[in-house]
Amino acid sequence: MKNINWEELVFSYTETDTVIRCHYADGKWGEPYATTDKTIQLHVAATVLQYGQAAFEGLKVFRGEDDQIRIFRMRANAERMQRSAGATYMAVPPVELFEQMCLMAVRENIDWVPPTITGATLYLRPVLFGTEPKLGVGPGHEYELVIIPSPIGPYYRGGFGKMTTFIVTRDVDRAAPRGLGPYKVGANYAASFRATEPAHAHGMDALFLDAKTKTYIDECGAANFIGIKDGVFVTPRSDSILPSVTNDSLRTLAEDLGIPVEVRPIALTELSEFQEAGACGTAAVISPIDKIIDADTGVIYNFGYAPGPVFTELYHALQDIQYGRREDVHGWNTIL
Ligand code: PLP
Ligand code: COI
Repeated sequence: MKNINWEELVFSYTETDTVIRCHYADGKWGEPYATTDKTIQLHVAATVLQYGQAAFEGLKVFRGEDDQIRIFRMRANAERMQRSAGATYMAVPPVELFEQMCLMAVRENIDWVPPTITGATLYLRPVLFGTEPKLGVGPGHEYELVIIPSPIGPYYRGGFGKMTTFIVTRDVDRAAPRGLGPYKVGANYAASFRATEPAHAHGMDALFLDAKTKTYIDECGAANFIGIKDGVFVTPRSDSILPSVTNDSLRTLAEDLGIPVEVRPIALTELSEFQEAGACGTAAVISPIDKIIDADTGVIYNFGYAPGPVFTELYHALQDIQYGRREDVHGWNTIL
């Protein structure tokens, strides 16, 4: 294992030995290969630069106490990248290719999978983008898929034990109804920066409402909203949020544990009736929220100073599967 200070890692890029690349041209995918070169030669007129043909994914690799290496829900990420590619008229990478490249990325960089107890993990960032030079407005015919591994620490500093504050944003829309919200495309993140950067400057993150009516909760920065109301796990139904693999996993675990689950629109004002609130995602895992500030109305929704009991139970259930401490009854892990 590499001799680095794993405990100090935050959610930022650490360069590893290799990345895995694969090119699509003439209607077919080439052979994936590992390379130490982290730069690419790209034509200045590539469709990714002109028309934003770019999608990405994020998944995690865990080193268990049994020293087994587990990749969490790789297939779900492969399928979501297919949907993102389809939505932006890019070549759709086969699930098998995506999975093969993720496995190559881990094998090549196995010494970068952090030790169990540090809380750090190896994050895989698959990116897909258009490389064909083009000025005519339309999709290209050449694409590149790259898997970038990087060891990472918690997305929000302090991890599960530390609460995060969100501020409601009404003057920026992350995604439009029937837009690209349910897809993991780079443009959604560029669109969110106008809200998230000012929030980060104040040690908070941005809570997005539905773009049309500004009534319902959409996304928590780069994560889904989850809440607990009278013992029920509640999360938004919306056409403009990313279907989170973590959220899907938590809903399944909640049902396993006998916790009722509701997926439905959640009005911002209903938050006053919630006992727990959180952000969930691959990077965020469960990040409990202490308060949500609505600066426009002056209302502050409070959820306490420590993670609540339901999120604590779900967090451990999820991590226990990811680290191989609990039986993987749903077959989510790929063991190397
Ligand atoms: N919502 C957004 C906007 C995200 O970027 C992410 C991160 O991937 C999520 C939700 C959580 O999705 P997942 O749990 O699949 O990582
Ligand atoms: C993830 O949770 O994997 C994400 O991609 C969200 C963010 C870090 C972009």
